[in-house]
Amino acid sequence: MSDPLELCTSPEMQSVRNLIAKVARADVTVLLRGESGVGKEIVARAIHDSSARAQKPLLKVNCTALPGELLESELFGHEKGAFTGAYREKPGKFEVARGGTLLLDEIGEMPLRLQAKLLHILQDGEFARVGGERIIQTDVRVIAATNRDLEAAIRAGQFREDLYYRINVIEIRIPPLRERREEIPALIRHFLERSKEENGHSIDIPAATLRAFMDYSWPGNVRELENLLKRIAVLDNGHQVPPEIVASLASGSVLSGPLTGTVPTTVIPHAVMGLKDIARQAARDAERVAIAEVLDRVHWNRAKAARLLQISYKALLYKIVDCGLVSPDKELIPA
Ligand SMILES: Nc1ncnc2c1ncn2[C@@H]1O[C@H](COP(=O)(O)OP(=O)(O)OP(=O)(O)O)[C@@H](O)[C@H]1O
Ligand SMILES: [Mg+2]
Repeated sequence: MSDPLELCTSPEMQSVRNLIAKVARADVTVLLRGESGVGKEIVARAIHDSSARAQKPLLKVNCTALPGELLESELFGHEKGAFTGAYREKPGKFEVARGGTLLLDEIGEMPLRLQAKLLHILQDGEFARVGGERIIQTDVRVIAATNRDLEAAIRAGQFREDLYYRINVIEIRIPPLRERREEIPALIRHFLERSKEENGHSIDIPAATLRAFMDYSWPGNVRELENLLKRIAVLDNGHQVPPEIVASLASGSVLSGPLTGTVPTTVIPHAVMGLKDIARQAARDAERVAIAEVLDRVHWNRAKAARLLQISYKALLYKIVDCGLVSPDKELIPA
């Protein structure tokens, strides 16, 4: 696809696209916000591709994927002998991406010490590798992404306020799929076409099934839709949508519904994903099922559920929203 956002035709995403066109050439730091799976990475790609840096690399660092020290070396590089195992020097992403763009994914999870180093780079455009003294100039446009409440993280002392203002020059909020349902049919067509190329057969989606797709809340957003279609493609030779999937869409819970028990979800639907994504999604799915079950058991008494799950009440509320869980009386749980 030449324009990664060509399927984003809703008015909500049109405003996002207009904003992208404006910020792309301005070379300012951008903060992308939105739930998991809404397409933050695709938006970062769109910004990079329409910027003056398009011919240079767009690199991504996921701030949750690595423990602090490794993340530091990944970002800033290290000199030979900087730490045990540093047998040779290695440039960091801030060097490799010179002239291009660096996407700092899940920036809200970056350790405070590295936040200070990042702030320094953003302010002065220079840094030193781990274990090095040499000052290295950098020319990288930073795009930060998060699905975390950064303002709450600042209040909790987990995110630097000065860094927040530095990265938040322009903020782009990408709306969840349920706020732009008109894009669902085109997205389905797009993913089905891709699946046809991969599997050689087409999947039939009758009108009633499409309605179930349109009505579902998609807590995992576009990624959930994409993965569900991949799952359908491998089930039953994928010529049509299995009735239990339509039923679980209609009951509002694809991941915690009967499907989880009947399909080896950890293997089949993820077979075409990278290992990191598989692990992340499996953890998220497992959490969602466990939280839903406990909430069910205690009749949505959240204080009790938090105690049983051994997490704080606040963390549970956050997870309920994050997992898109809705209480039986259909009220959305406030954050
Ligand atoms: N507009 C779109 N057109 C086609 N595919 C899309 C679109 N938006 C998202 N996707 C697909 O959905 C999946 C999730 O998108 P992406 O990785 O950009 O989300 P994200 O917001 O970065 O998620 P996370 O918070 O979990 O990192 C990807 O496989 C991506 O290709
Ligand atoms: Mg992402």
